[in-house]
This record gives sequence, structure tokens and C-alpha cells, in this order.
Amino acid sequence: MELIFATNNLHKLHEVKEKLQLNNAKIQVISLSEIGFFNDIPETGITLQANALQKAQTIFDFCGKNCFADDTGLEIVALNGEPGVYSARYAERCWGEPCGRPSGSGVNPVPTFDDNINLVLSKLHGKINRKAYFKTVIALFWNGKIHYFEGRIDGEITSEKHGTEGFGYDPIFRPEGYQETFAELPLDEKNRISHRARAVDELVKFLSER
Ligand code: IMP
Repeated sequence: MELIFATNNLHKLHEVKEKLQLNNAKIQVISLSEIGFFNDIPETGITLQANALQKAQTIFDFCGKNCFADDTGLEIVALNGEPGVYSARYAERCWGEPCGRPSGSGVNPVPTFDDNINLVLSKLHGKINRKAYFKTVIALFWNGKIHYFEGRIDGEITSEKHGTEGFGYDPIFRPEGYQETFAELPLDEKNRISHRARAVDELVKFLSER
């Protein structure tokens, strides 16, 4: 079966394709470029579920076909759940502080993964409690109806970056029971335990029962 993945994030696209292979799922993921969608997808919700719905809805409205989107947040206990739903643009919230790039150009650039990581590390400096978790919500449009699936992985934030695999906060997130960060693990290992992998497991289970 074919399913459009409503994402412009090529890391996510790659991860989910590999995960479906790992699960031997008979689902072919179609990218946005393959359906001729080249715009940004708005993401203005204040919850992961609202954002996942907004992204899937945008693509469903565009093509009317079965599609899904994922929204993910990193929640850090000592930061009262930050960056959470604002994980992608966390550093943008404090441009001008030492952790962010200056905003003098007048342009509001999207923070890089490193900008966001540096902000997290500076906010956690000296903090004993490093507990955090990733949470993913997938919104699926299936025959015109919406369904949600969730996945979560607990772990902790390291005091510096380790590893070069993955994306986003992977270099500073060490999953529970591991010595390595996500960025030090091969993708098939991340894909056995991650937040996104667990949400995809639920999606696959749902579709296998259709
Ligand atoms: P999005 O809003 O779901 O696209 O993701 C928000 C941000 O969370 C991304 O820009 C990444 O910085 C981060 N993120 C999402 N998924 C992962 C992951 O699997 N590992 C590390 N960071 C992630």
C-alpha cells in the first residue's frame, strides 16, 4: 500500500523508510516531492497532536490521499518540559542571548540543530537532573478519517555532544539502558527503540488490521 509522508525533513523520511523495512511492512512511503508538493507546511499548533494534524491536513487537502505526519518534541524535566512542542525553533526564543545567534541582520533565520543543542546545554549547565524524553505523535489520514499514534523514549541529556549519526538533538540524548547517544548508534538500533519507531510500530499495527 502507498502512504504519503507529510514531511520536508529528509532525516525523518529516511528513518521512517528504514523503519518500515525493518518491520517488513508492506507500506511504500511516498515523499512530498513525488506528489509535487514543494511548499513549507505550517506548524502553528501548541501541542504535538495539533501540529501533526495540521501537517497531515495540509497534505490531505492538497491531494486527498492517505497520508501521515509526525510531530516530535524533546521534553526535559529540569526545564519544565522545554523545548517540547518548540523543539525545532527553540533557540529562536532567545536570540541575542549568548546561546543564540545575533538577530541584527533583520532576517529571522531558522536555528540550526547546533543552536538548539547549545541552548539546551547552557540551560542545563550545573543541573543534576538530566532526565528527558522524546515524544512523537503521528497523525494519519486513512480513507478520510484521522487517527493518532504515539511513541516515547526516556533517557537523559549528556553534558556534551557525542556522535555524528541522526539529526536534531540526537548527539545529546542518551536513551535509558545505553552508554551511547542516539547519534552514536547505528540507525537500525535507533529504529528499534526510538519515539518515532514506537509510533510507527503502532501505525503499522493499525494498517495491518485493515
Ligand atoms: P518536528 O517539529 O517534529 O519537525 O521536530 C522538531 C524538532 O525536534 C526537530 O527540528 C529536531 O530538532 C527535533 N527532533 C525531532 N525528531 C528527532 C529525533 O528523532 N532525534 C533528535 N531530534 C529530533
